[in-house]
Amino acid sequence: MLQGTRVKNTIEEIYQKAVTALSTAANEEAVNQISVQYLGRKGYVTLFLRNISQLPPDERRFAGQRANEVKGLISSAITAAMERLAQDRGVDRIDVSLPGRTPEIGSFHPITQVMNTICEILGKMGFAVVEGPEVESDYYNFEALNIPENHPARAMHDTFYVSDSVVLRTHTSPTQPRVMEKQAPPVRIIAPGKVYRCDSDLTHTPMFHQVEGLLVDEGISFADLKGILTGFVHQMFDDQTTLRFRPSFFPFTEPSAEVDIRCVMCRGKGCRVCSHTGWLEVLGAGMVHPAVFENVGYDPLRYTGFAFGMGIERIAMLKYGIDDIRRYFDNDCRFLRQF
Ligand code: DAH
Repeated sequence: MLQGTRVKNTIEEIYQKAVTALSTAANEEAVNQISVQYLGRKGYVTLFLRNISQLPPDERRFAGQRANEVKGLISSAITAAMERLAQDRGVDRIDVSLPGRTPEIGSFHPITQVMNTICEILGKMGFAVVEGPEVESDYYNFEALNIPENHPARAMHDTFYVSDSVVLRTHTSPTQPRVMEKQAPPVRIIAPGKVYRCDSDLTHTPMFHQVEGLLVDEGISFADLKGILTGFVHQMFDDQTTLRFRPSFFPFTEPSAEVDIRCVMCRGKGCRVCSHTGWLEVLGAGMVHPAVFENVGYDPLRYTGFAFGMGIERIAMLKYGIDDIRRYFDNDCRFLRQF
């Protein structure tokens, strides 16, 4: 029994010493030496195993088993020590003097940025943001806006039809009757979003963005419309940018106007961008047509209101001096990174 304990202690001692030696080994050379010292031909573990036959028969089995186990454990510890040293010396080692790697930071698409700015400016003037569906019924896109079937104004819209009575909305104006149907005046909303038209060239893409505005209350006049739009343009561009209201026609407003701003490129002198007119058209607007009020159950004798709609790509093109609308949708990072 006494001898059994001694045998056990001997092999455990060998194991502990090997582990300690490996944990403090300063280099691969030292590890190699330990390997020879313990597992080599004349190593401690090898000699121990060789001498097992001299032990009393009842101890041989245990001693042999444990010694082989220890041999395996030391061998794995040697591999681990080698790996640790290689890592300390190698490429994975952290060099704290190197400059850090900055993660790439993404940014909003220029259209989103301009859309946010527009909503921010009008939001401060008290307009609440609402959204409507892009797949829209013929009713809200046309009928409710006083554009009945076969009305010539429908031809201007290059509509994508989903079915006879469902379209991809051609403008954000259908949010007007949608909001008014659900809410009694006063109404003061803007509706940003995507719109679709079957059209594609330098200044048109089949999908683009608009922001619609609508204000309805008692005693609202064209002067209020002028005031709001002038304030908006001054904040969007600068307060030197003058506006011009040209008489126009939209079935859902009466009177209607198209609004131009002084060319932001040439300041009115005349250039390629403004086709030498000195003016740039930026939006459509007008006083809400009584027929639209009737369609949503508002009393046109009691309430008046104005509406306006603008193309976001157009505003962004003027703000940033971009001459091809398709750039926005090419997803070329060299273009997008400039914003
Ligand atoms: N919906 C018109 C378009 O897409 C723009 C527009 C004109 C909107 C006049 C309005 C408006 O609200 O009053 O061409």
